[in-house]
Amino acid sequence: MSEVRFDGRVAVVTGAGGGLGRSHALLLAARGARVVVNDLGGSRDGTGASTNMADQVVGEIKKAGGEAAADYHGVDTAEGGEAIVKTALDAFGKVDILINNAGILRDRAFHNLTEEDWDKVLAVHLKGAYNVTQPAFRIMRQNSYGRIVFTTSAAGLFGNFGQTNYSAAKMALVGMMNTLKLEGAKYNIRANTIAPLAASRLTEDIFPPQVIEKLAPAFVSPMVCYLCSEACEETGSVFTAGGGYFGRAAVVEGKGVFFEGEPVSLEQIRDALPKIKDMSGAEEFQMANAEGMARVFSRLQRGAAAQ
Ligand code: NAI
Repeated sequence: MSEVRFDGRVAVVTGAGGGLGRSHALLLAARGARVVVNDLGGSRDGTGASTNMADQVVGEIKKAGGEAAADYHGVDTAEGGEAIVKTALDAFGKVDILINNAGILRDRAFHNLTEEDWDKVLAVHLKGAYNVTQPAFRIMRQNSYGRIVFTTSAAGLFGNFGQTNYSAAKMALVGMMNTLKLEGAKYNIRANTIAPLAASRLTEDIFPPQVIEKLAPAFVSPMVCYLCSEACEETGSVFTAGGGYFGRAAVVEGKGVFFEGEPVSLEQIRDALPKIKDMSGAEEFQMANAEGMARVFSRLQRGAAAQ
């Protein structure tokens, strides 16, 4: 069986100074990629900065015989994003792979959330992904090759108490991927999203000690790294991974109900709600206007033609 390798490929992993990002970076490097290890080196709520975290992971990669360069910029500014990609260009001449992984938490019940907590979390997770992905995507487009992975969360996909800011940012990344997969398709740029579950400093206080070892980030990285490989034709999917489990999450729409003619009454909605909500035969759509909306338009056109 041929090995999945990254020889000749250049990868940028954001927030790779610890946790999941470190694990992704180590695995990519072990399989031959030259890796930019980006990390601001701050605390879990996004305050502070240091060069230690990125340097340490670069040291680990080099010690194991791999190639890596450290980058200490924050993803949360456009200049930071540009600078991270420039580090890859200066050190290795291109960018083939980008893993948007950097993250912070500012959990608070919604009624207590401050504007600063909202802005900071969106700046790192959502704007951060934009800031790094755009300059990287431009290079990938020129080179007609790219593999991009976004990092979402079950909190965004399904909700989690005290995480409105984080959930909003994380689900927005799925929206970003949905469109980027279309814009990158012609240029052999694939974009996918991981929803991980792993023991890290972000989750150290929520997992019971006995499962921490079983939830090591190394259980997530094989999926993330496979999505970064040339072999991977997959694009536009959300994969869940943690503790040896792998699955896929998707946005689907049910068959729905059609009412002809005049706008319906509130009572008709009330009475039809179970059928409107029914998800049997639910479908996934590859893009908005081509399929989801086409279902409505074709029905309306057929109706108009019949009149
Ligand atoms: P972590 O705290 O170990 O890793 C996040 C890294 O991002 C840290 O090393 C941090 O220094 C870095 N970082 C923070 N702000 C940055 C910035 N502005 N610029 C550059 N780097 C920055 O936590 P973990 O768990 O490894 O998180 C990685 C990603 O996975 C995050 O996006 C997180 O939201 C996501 N995630 C993690 C889950 C888990 O179970 N651990 C669950 C769902 C999502």
